[in-house]
Amino acid sequence: MSQDRIKSLLHEDRSYLPPRHGKDVARIRSRREYDALCELARTDNDSFWAERARALLHWFKPWDKVQDTDFNEPRVRWFVGGRLNAAYNCVDRHIISDRRNKAALIWQGEREMEVRAYTYQMLYTDVCRVAAALNALNIKKGDRVALYLPMIPELVVAMLACARIGAVHTNIFTGYADGGVQSRIHDSGARLVITADAVMRGGEPKPLKSNLDRILNHCPSVEKVLVVNRANTEVNMLKGRDIWWQDLLDDFTLDADFPCVSMDAEDPLFILHTSGSTGRPTGVIHSTGGYLTYAAHTAQWVFDLKDTDVYWCTADCGWITGHSYLVYGPLSLGATTIMFEGTPTWPRPDRYWRIVEKFRVNILYTAPTVIRSLMRQGVEWTNHYDLSSLRILGSVGEPLNPEAWMWYHTYIGKGELPIVDTWWQTESGGIMLSPLPYATHIKPGSVTKPLPGIEAGIMSGDGSDDCAQEGGHLVIRKPWPGLMTGVFQNPEKFKSYFNRFPGCYLSGDGARVDEEGNYWILGRMDDAINVSGHRLSTSEIESVLIAHPAVGEAAVVPMPHEIKGEAIYAYVAVKKEVEWSETLRKELRTWVRSQIGALASPEQIQFVSELPKTLSGKTVRRILRKIASGDNLESLGDTTTLAHPEVLEDIYNNYLKLKVGQPEK
Ligand code: PRX
Repeated sequence: MSQDRIKSLLHEDRSYLPPRHGKDVARIRSRREYDALCELARTDNDSFWAERARALLHWFKPWDKVQDTDFNEPRVRWFVGGRLNAAYNCVDRHIISDRRNKAALIWQGEREMEVRAYTYQMLYTDVCRVAAALNALNIKKGDRVALYLPMIPELVVAMLACARIGAVHTNIFTGYADGGVQSRIHDSGARLVITADAVMRGGEPKPLKSNLDRILNHCPSVEKVLVVNRANTEVNMLKGRDIWWQDLLDDFTLDADFPCVSMDAEDPLFILHTSGSTGRPTGVIHSTGGYLTYAAHTAQWVFDLKDTDVYWCTADCGWITGHSYLVYGPLSLGATTIMFEGTPTWPRPDRYWRIVEKFRVNILYTAPTVIRSLMRQGVEWTNHYDLSSLRILGSVGEPLNPEAWMWYHTYIGKGELPIVDTWWQTESGGIMLSPLPYATHIKPGSVTKPLPGIEAGIMSGDGSDDCAQEGGHLVIRKPWPGLMTGVFQNPEKFKSYFNRFPGCYLSGDGARVDEEGNYWILGRMDDAINVSGHRLSTSEIESVLIAHPAVGEAAVVPMPHEIKGEAIYAYVAVKKEVEWSETLRKELRTWVRSQIGALASPEQIQFVSELPKTLSGKTVRRILRKIASGDNLESLGDTTTLAHPEVLEDIYNNYLKLKVGQPEK
């Protein structure tokens, strides 16, 4: 299909019917079935979820009560009194079935010839070994274990080994800088950190262990560090604290069948930090029973996951998508899941398509930022590969703009495959709004409808719910099993999700609903920025900027970006004695990078003599956001509440100068 054709399609209000092929064997085959399931969940919510939990998981003891939830309090309790173990569900029960020798995990290393595959039986052996080793290190149920690991199989094994003994894992994305790693380890009170010597990037090892050494002095809870040898690089091993993973596992007189702990459904399975609105990351807690049910349920329905499928979620396990859809969802269903260590463009931008062909991937779940960057590399990179094994394409993390949608559909889906654009969050545990591939009429750019059992709605700022078509706050009105059960050591933060609109969970996103009931996500309504599908907090970046000795004040807002979706635009007012200079601009960028990580590095830093403020001294970010988005001076809205409206002209003119590469003033 030509580029012109794609462009003209973008202007059509087109919807795509579900494919015929595969429909008769799909889990949910029609709009009628979808409607019936929604109705069932509405009229008998408890039975709906109980049926899913029973069908999908193995419970050591059934629950006494399906849910004990109340958004007003808030209280989130699912499958009360039930007992299970997540590792048992993801591994043990498959080895007493026909899946015993099925590939559970296929790992593609950064280098093409580095591939490791684990059958369920092999995964079981390794998980038991590591669980026994953790036990030998005196790690107990409820202890936190931080996993600061690259995308290597040991990460999945470590997650499941923690789950096996009831330890709570907290995964830390390897792209964070020292500050991000330190606050996450420190706040979780982890007793053990599992890391690797290095992570492979672009053919070169990038150190991990030495990063950790720098920060562990500030993390008093950490007693031991387990180090996986990934890249054979030299590291310092601190006597009495640091242990090689390989040594521990080799030396141990291992019990091949290390028992798993029976967990209460409400016991936490993991904590995952997401960017908070206060500048400190929010430690989202997910429970064992509710979370696992929801991860398995959504993986099965949204991806129509079958036993014969090879399924690939490209997300890093440092993010929620990697938890729910690389590990817990697919493994609890006994699927074959692929894990990729590398990046889409190294050594060439054909890496994804090579993997699809090599492993005959059936379901591909990736992110808009990846699609956009591969789109820019040109379609010729897809041409040499046989992508005919694919049957479902997925997207998550940020809006999939219609142009990227069309490219994905046309060149990867060959104009036939359904695309499930899935909306959800770290807090929701699993997918909330999404097409069902064989039942939903899909509109490019829309995440279509809530899944059965999910009661979504749109609220205006004043709490009325009659603004669905103009747009407003996206809320969820009824509890679902995947919802976080709390925020680690921060009950006030947990409450903040529920107190704005009584009886509703506030997502923080804006959305509108069209006449056909399709949802269109409009982006964050709070102070979060979504860079390449990763949520970052503007106030966290502002605090880091202000901590720099040259900076007096800072305001951080999103700006549109062709590949990343959104990027970071920082307005900085320096201290009196400091000069504006390119050197300082560079230094500030490096400073943010070093404190939070490369993702948070500002795309642009604009120096201002003064930030626009109200009479009461509040920075008016609304106006700064508009300027960074390219709005002209006349369309900045009401500026009468500003203490010094005249600063705007300067800010605007300097914005224009920077845009064409000239420094301010
Ligand atoms: O703004 C929404 C955006 O990502 C946010 C959640 O970020 P995080 O907790 O890091 O989880 C990302 C992966 C689930 C949401 O509040 N978002 C997620 N999916 C979509 C999306 N925005 C538009 N369309 C989506 N499909």
